[in-house]
Parts: sequence; C-alpha cells; structure tokens
Amino acid sequence: MLEALWDRRALLVSGKGGVGKTTLAAALAVAAARAGRTVLLAELAPEEDGPSPLAARVGARQAGPQVTRVRPGLHFVRLSAAEGHRHFLERALPARWLADAALRTRALRRFLEAGPALREMGLMYQLLALLRRTRPDGRFVHPLTVVDLPATGHALALAALPQRVLSLMPGGPIGRDVREGLDFLQDAARTAMVLASLPEPLPVSEALTVAAELRRLELPLSAAVLNRMPEDPFTPESRAALHRMLAAHGPHQGWRELERLERARAASVRLSRALRAPLLTLPELHATGPALVEALAEGFAPHPEHAPWQEALP
Ligand SMILES: Nc1ncnc2c1ncn2[C@@H]1O[C@H](COP(=O)(O)OP(=O)(O)OP(=O)(O)O)[C@@H](O)[C@H]1O
Ligand SMILES: [Mg+2]
Repeated sequence: MLEALWDRRALLVSGKGGVGKTTLAAALAVAAARAGRTVLLAELAPEEDGPSPLAARVGARQAGPQVTRVRPGLHFVRLSAAEGHRHFLERALPARWLADAALRTRALRRFLEAGPALREMGLMYQLLALLRRTRPDGRFVHPLTVVDLPATGHALALAALPQRVLSLMPGGPIGRDVREGLDFLQDAARTAMVLASLPEPLPVSEALTVAAELRRLELPLSAAVLNRMPEDPFTPESRAALHRMLAAHGPHQGWRELERLERARAASVRLSRALRAPLLTLPELHATGPALVEALAEGFAPHPEHAPWQEALP
C-alpha cells in the first residue's frame, strides 16, 4: 500500500506546529524499514543543539550531523548547517585563495548578507550531499530519506530558498547545485511532500494554506495525513438514534465527544475534497514516544471513508 511512497528518494513531512510531524516521520521511517527498505531518518530542527525529539522517538542514541545506525535498515541524522557549509565550500571553492577571491565577489557577498538564508542553505546542502552519496557499485547509500521538517514557516522558507539563491547566482557550481536541489524537490518521482494535519477546523484550514503554498512552490504534495482521528464507535443507525435522543432530551455527558467526532468527520471530508492528493487517516492512540511510533508504523491503513490511498496514488 505504501510502496509508492517507499519508492521515492525523499519523503518530506510538513505541517503546522504540533500536528504530529515528528511522530509521523518516525513512524513512516520505521514502517519503511520494516518493509525491507534502507531508510535514513533526518531531522531538520530549528535548533541544532539540545535534545532531539526525533532521535528520542526512534531510540537513536546519538543525534548529530554524522549518520548513525538505529537498527537494521534504519539510520538517523540531524542535519546541520555547519556540515552543509563545509560541503558547500568544498564544492564551490577548492582552494583557499579561491575562497578569498570568491568572498570579494558581489554575488557571494549579497548572498552572505541574505543572513538566515545561509543556515537554510547549509541544511539543504547537507541533505543533498546525503541524497547523492553512492556506494562503490553505484547504488545509493540512502535510497530513501524521510525528513522531519520544522513547523511550516521554516519548511517553506527552505523550499523557497533555491529560487532565491538562483536569482542571486544563476550560474557556477553553486547555482548548478541549487538547481539540482530544486529539480530534486520538485520532481514527484523522487520527492514526496507529506502534509500532516489534525481533524479539527482550524488545523485543516492551516493545512489547506500550506497545500496552496506547496503548489505555488511547485512541490509535489503526494499524501495528506489526518492524524489523531478519534475512534468512532457508532454505526449509522446508532448515531441516528443518538441524535434523536439528544434532540428530545437535550445535551448530556457524551455530547462534547460526539461533537468532536462530527468535527473530525467534517474535517476529513473537507480535507480530502480540497486536496488533490490521497488522504491517510491515523488514529488517536493511547501511547507516547517510541511506543506510539511503533504502533503507528504497525497500523498504517486508510480510513474506510476514503478511497484506499494506493488507488489514488499516481
Ligand atoms: N496518533 C497520535 N495519537 C496520540 N498522540 C499523538 C499522535 N500523534 C502525535 N501525538 C502526540 O502529539 C504530540 C505532538 O506530536 P509531534 O511532536 O509529533 O508533533 P510535531 O508536529 O512534530 O510538533 P512540532 O511542530 O512541535 O515539531 C506529541 O505529544 C505526540 O505524542
Ligand atoms: Mg516536531
């Protein structure tokens, strides 16, 4: 079912804050590793220091810019701007005097003055370097990379970065690298953007805004995930009976829960109608941390209300 996603080179999990991106990225990577894929789980965090929520979710002992093995088929890395800058300089400036000369050029100065972009540029460079890495026999070291993107603002800034950099320096090795990165991100055969949301009106509105932004940046939205869908214990008959009872006797204790269920159903219908992408629904589970990740990885399955997502995949 998820094969179409596993066959991509990169899955980028995006979404607004707190919707479950880190959990989802970890669960996708664990599920892909279980399906026999070799997976690199990459964290692109707003902060590069301090504890790594993603590493903790999969039980990775180290969270740094060097790739570490978590278990068979699953590796972990925390993308680092500094590591990316190293790749960037190595590629662009093979000698010190060249670096000095380059630093005197107006284009590079303008680029450096762009400020925060430099960090995003470094992160993108490290990601590209990892994606490009090959074994002596020509196969990719990391055939599938799952990236946990930070809350959407940052993720979109990263995605918009290549276009910004290209407008500053369209030619030369940096321009070529950035063009390659942009081609990679925009190529639906290699990259899948996975957009996470919660089944509530506001998060769905936010997810639709993100989806529009992804379209504007020509990034391929491959699947949306409605996370933490409450369990619906009702059959259509029992639901209708409950509504009749509530109409006759007024609200009672379970009313809020029922309302939440109705909102979740409406949110799911709205999201699947508005997006031209398959929708996967994940349940609200009574677990946290690695146990939650393992349970979600185990149970990836489409919500019965929606077309099975493998049918809707291109
Ligand atoms: N399906 C689920 N069932 C129950 N709890 C969940 C589920 N998915 C996520 N959670 C919980 O929701 C919280 C937020 O999840 P997570 O950290 O993955 O979100 P996030 O989008 O990465 O957040 P941030 O934007 O802060 O990085 C966590 O406490 C997590 O355990
Ligand atoms: Mg997170």
